Amino acid sequence: MDYRFSGRMNKLSGSATREILKLIKRGGVISFAGGLPAADMLPAAELAAVSDEILNSPRVKEIMQYDVTEGAPEVRAEIAEYLGDFGIHGIGADHVQIISGGQQGIDLSCRALLDKGDYALVEDPTYLAALQIITSYEAVPVGVKAVSDGLDLNDLEAKIKKYNPKLLYVVPTFSNPTGGTYSAENRKRIAEITAKYNIVVVEDDPYAKLRFSGSAVPSIKSMDTAGNVIYLTSFSKIVSPGMRIGAACAAPELLGRMTVCKQGIDVHTNSLAVAVIGEFLKRGIIKRHVEKVLPIYKKKQKLIVECLDKYFPDCYRHTNPEGGLFIWGKFEDAKLDTQALLPEAIETCKAAYVQGNVFYADGSGHDCIRLNFSNPSESDIERGIEALGRFFKSKIQSK
Ligand SMILES: Cc1ncc(COP(=O)(O)O)c(C=O)c1O
Repeated sequence: MDYRFSGRMNKLSGSATREILKLIKRGGVISFAGGLPAADMLPAAELAAVSDEILNSPRVKEIMQYDVTEGAPEVRAEIAEYLGDFGIHGIGADHVQIISGGQQGIDLSCRALLDKGDYALVEDPTYLAALQIITSYEAVPVGVKAVSDGLDLNDLEAKIKKYNPKLLYVVPTFSNPTGGTYSAENRKRIAEITAKYNIVVVEDDPYAKLRFSGSAVPSIKSMDTAGNVIYLTSFSKIVSPGMRIGAACAAPELLGRMTVCKQGIDVHTNSLAVAVIGEFLKRGIIKRHVEKVLPIYKKKQKLIVECLDKYFPDCYRHTNPEGGLFIWGKFEDAKLDTQALLPEAIETCKAAYVQGNVFYADGSGHDCIRLNFSNPSESDIERGIEALGRFFKSKIQSK
């Protein structure tokens, strides 16, 4: 059969991390590659109990019918209250659209705003799926330089003037891939600059609850005076990715457009999962669960930092995140191609990382790697980082 695929999707290859996951699934490989919460930390008992309760209540007949695209109003009201934790106040159910994971929020934002040939600014480096989504709408992602406290504001303004972008996509808290967090001042200036130039900010914030040290920084959305920020939250990293539940919060006009876009994709998000998340919020289960996981992630982050400092080459400079799931580093002046080396690293070290270049709009970053510390066990962190350290040292010496 001669399939006549859409030209739109020709530029896209599959997600690099999904391809690596396939290699890892063959077994025996320590994975620092995924973005997974620790498997033994999923709230399985609570999920089973609350689902069972809902399925055996009279509500089941209503929940198992079609719902409105926005999602159940009482759960949206719970989420609106929950968003207060991120500094977003004075909103109700009408400001919230339930989405099938945060990823769908990125897609709906791009679908609502981007036309072929439009530009979208992203942080360099950024979440690789955002690059794919922007490209799938035939728009062009352009990287904005990062500095220690967020975006380089001069570069942001220069790129705005040069490209006239319609949107800016950022992960300002415990970013994927770097683990970095923008300061409050940087966020305020981003809100001001984008409002001045009529640009929508897609603030993707799935990691903010995973802070294990330092103090919380308010969201960009909480500083939005022009109605130009779409805030995306997700329950994937704090409850379960398999539930596929997130929420978007934006000005009604923007949210309305996203809702129309969602109608054509999946009509509405899985109502049983939505109801479970509603109960989890109402009963404080999420709060208690996060309190239980954070010390474990903190310990693992400390351990991976110690191991990197002990086993990796001296030229390797890494971030030291105060939360989230990732640590990021660069082999300074070593000219390593971490993409080319990955299959050999998996083969010889039985450990996997994600190559840096997939997170850059222009495909640079070959000398960087992203490591996840939440999913591997403590003994695997020690073993895997030691093996990778030996591997990278041998590659640098043989140059
Ligand atoms: C920055 C970022 N946004 C969105 C997602 C997707 O999240 P979800 O499972 O809620 O769709 C991820 C997952 O890794 C992520 O890192």
